Amino acid sequence: MRYSLRQLQIFDAVARHLSYTRAAEELHLTQPAVFAQIKQLEEVIGLPLLERTGKQLHLTAVGHEVLATSRETIGALDRLEMRLADMQGLKRGRLRVAMVTTAKYLIPRLLGEFCVKYPGIEASLIVTNREQVLARVANNEDDIAILGAPPEGMDVVATPIANNPLVVIARNDHALAQHKLISLPRIVEEPFIVREPGSGTRLATERFFAEHQLSFKVRMELGSNEAIKQAIAGGLGVSVLSQHALALDGTDGLLQPLNVTGFPLRRKWYVAYPAGKHLSAVAEAFLEHLLERKAG
Ligand code: PGA
Repeated sequence: MRYSLRQLQIFDAVARHLSYTRAAEELHLTQPAVFAQIKQLEEVIGLPLLERTGKQLHLTAVGHEVLATSRETIGALDRLEMRLADMQGLKRGRLRVAMVTTAKYLIPRLLGEFCVKYPGIEASLIVTNREQVLARVANNEDDIAILGAPPEGMDVVATPIANNPLVVIARNDHALAQHKLISLPRIVEEPFIVREPGSGTRLATERFFAEHQLSFKVRMELGSNEAIKQAIAGGLGVSVLSQHALALDGTDGLLQPLNVTGFPLRRKWYVAYPAGKHLSAVAEAFLEHLLERKAG
């Protein structure tokens, strides 16, 4: 073999980013080192893999051919690594989980327990909004994803693991705080603080009110549940949030759910992964752990 696996990995990174600099950043190498490796690969192959038109870097036809084979090779080796880890049982291995922001009030604790049980496992957890988690599922970037509703229009396996009720919350001295039952037309008169577009919490809230032919007035849009809680504590309005977001309340019991018709919205968290994906032994064991904890 005249070229190394390392060179193929470097070429893969350059082809993905179409930039030597960004590939170097990803691989923690210098830009000249990346450039030199690609030049060497081109010399061995005898044809250019990349070409420049103006400022833009492109793959040549040969580059596309080499890229396809190097992806197959890297993918096969990844799968081998996974099978070897499976053969070693749960002594070693990696677990990559992506989850929506509301799940961060529950899942890290369960992952913590799992890691105590299997100390050899290296876990990484990405916390982002629904839209970003769906993009990661579509690209098969993680072992499993955790989201607030099964992905729509995607071929995935989705298993419910826990309840995720959404409640209307307000400051405890809010004019509606003592009301026994607040109607939907009444609650939408209040200023709403909502999550960013792309958030599952926001989507579920909008859908619910739309089903009742109502819409709410957005007073403020904030990209995190914590920021929303602070804004409510500051008296800026009401919001629909996961009840779990209230559990670890950094606002000293200042917030409380309101009794609004139709609430709590009964949602669940789902573990999802692309249909046909072979879960690693570690991912299977984690899924089992989540399901056991649900039963318990
Ligand atoms: P979000 O998702 O973090 O995107 O709001 C939460 C959910 O879908 O339950």
